Amino acid sequence: MSNRPLNVGLIGGGGGAFIVQPHQRAINFDGTRRVVAAALHPDPATATREAAAWPYPIKGYESYDAMIADQAGKPVGERLDYALIVTPNFVHFDPAMKCIKAGIPVFCEKPLTVTLEESDKLVQAVKEHKVPFAVSHTYLGHWTTRLARHIVRSGLIGEVRWVDSYYLQGWLADKAEDSNNMQAEWRVDPKRAGASCCGGDIGTHALMQLRYITGLEVTRVRGQLETFVGGRQLDDHFTTYCQLSNGGKAMVRASQICIGHKNDLRIEVNGTRGTLYWEQEQPERLVIMLPNQPDRAYWRGAVSANDGFLGDLPEDLMAEPNIPAGHPEAFHDAFARLHRGFEADVRAYNDGKPFSNDGSKYANVVDGRIGIAFVEAAVRSHLKDMAWVDVP
Ligand SMILES: NC(=O)c1ccc[n+]([C@@H]2O[C@H](COP(=O)([O-])OP(=O)(O)OC[C@H]3O[C@@H](n4cnc5c(N)ncnc54)[C@H](O)[C@@H]3O)[C@@H](O)[C@H]2O)c1
Repeated sequence: MSNRPLNVGLIGGGGGAFIVQPHQRAINFDGTRRVVAAALHPDPATATREAAAWPYPIKGYESYDAMIADQAGKPVGERLDYALIVTPNFVHFDPAMKCIKAGIPVFCEKPLTVTLEESDKLVQAVKEHKVPFAVSHTYLGHWTTRLARHIVRSGLIGEVRWVDSYYLQGWLADKAEDSNNMQAEWRVDPKRAGASCCGGDIGTHALMQLRYITGLEVTRVRGQLETFVGGRQLDDHFTTYCQLSNGGKAMVRASQICIGHKNDLRIEVNGTRGTLYWEQEQPERLVIMLPNQPDRAYWRGAVSANDGFLGDLPEDLMAEPNIPAGHPEAFHDAFARLHRGFEADVRAYNDGKPFSNDGSKYANVVDGRIGIAFVEAAVRSHLKDMAWVDVP
C-alpha cells in the first residue's frame, strides 16, 4: 500500500473563516494527509488571491465547481482524495452532491444541509455512488467519548433511563450579527442557516453525543425554540424533551445566550446501575458514579482493563492514546482523530476495497440526516405548542 499523503481540497475557508483552521491543522496533523487545493471564497478573485497567500503552497481555484471539474479523468494520486466542506450551512448540499457524483469522498461540516429533503438526497447519492462521507461532529473525536461509548453500549451502567445532553454558549447573548461578526451574520438567517439557528448549530452536536455514546435514537420529540434577543428571526435557545428508542427519556438542549458559558457541551447518562458524565471543557476525563462507591474519574492515557469496573477493553480503543496522561489532548486532537478514521476509509476506497463508513469512527451521512430530521421535528413540535412529534 502506498504511503503517499492523501490530497485534500478545501471548499470555503477564506476571509477570516473560523472552522477551516482547526480542520486544516488536523488534516496536516499526522503527515499522512495534506491540504493541496482550495476554493476558499464565493468571489473568484478573492478565492484565488487568498489561496496564493495561504501559509503553505496550495492550488487555488476560482470556485468549487472549477476545483471539482479539474479532477475529472485524473488517476488516484493526482486527483483530490477528498474534499472538506467548511462553508455556511446553505453551501453544503450543492458542493457535496457534485463531489459525490464526481466520485470524490466528502468530509462535510454539520449541520448536513438546510432541509431534510436535501439530506435525503445526499443519503441516496452516497448509497448509489458508494463514496466515503463524513459529517464533522467534532466531539466524537475525543478518546474519552469513545470510552464512554464502549462503557454505555456494553451495559456497564445498566439500561439507559435518562440522558441530559446539552451545549451552552453565550456568544449570541447580544446582537453580534449587527457588528460585522461574519459567523453570527449567516447563522441567524433562515435562508443560510436552516430552520433553526441554535438547534442546528449546536443542538445537533448534543444529539450526536447522545446517539454516539448510547446507540439509542430519539424517536419522538417535544421542542421549544426561543429567541431572547429582539429582532432575530431564528432561535437562540433550543430545548427538547425526547423519547428514546429503548423507552428511556432525554433532554437535548442548547443555548447561545448563556453568558459565561463558552463551549459547555456536557452529557450525563443515567443507567439502572450507574451514571456517566463527560464535559467538553474537561475532555480528558470521563466520570462514572456507582451506588455506594467513590466516584471513578478515568483519564485518557491512564485507563486499564479489568480494574473492577471495566472488563476487557476493545483493542483499537487501547491502541490509540499514545501521549501519556496529563499531556492534554483537546479540540485539534479530536478533529485529527476524525480525519484519521476517515483517511482509513478513503484509502480503502482508493484501493477498490470495502470501507466501513459505519459511524463508529466519525459521523456519516445518515447521522447528518438524523440531525436535520431531529431539528425539523423540534421546530414542528414548537409550532404545535410542544406536542409530541415523531422524528422521521
Ligand atoms: N464542527 C464544529 O465544531 C463546527 C464549529 C464551527 C462551525 N461549524 C460549521 O462549519 C461551517 C462553517 O462555519 P464557520 O463558522 O467556519 O463559518 P465562516 O463564516 O467563518 O466561514 C465560512 C467560509 O465559507 C466561505 N464560503 C461561503 N460561500 C462559499 C462558496 N460558494 N464557495 C467557497 N467558499 C464559500 C466563506 O468565504 C468563508 O470562508 C458551518 O456549517 C458551521 O455550522 C462546525
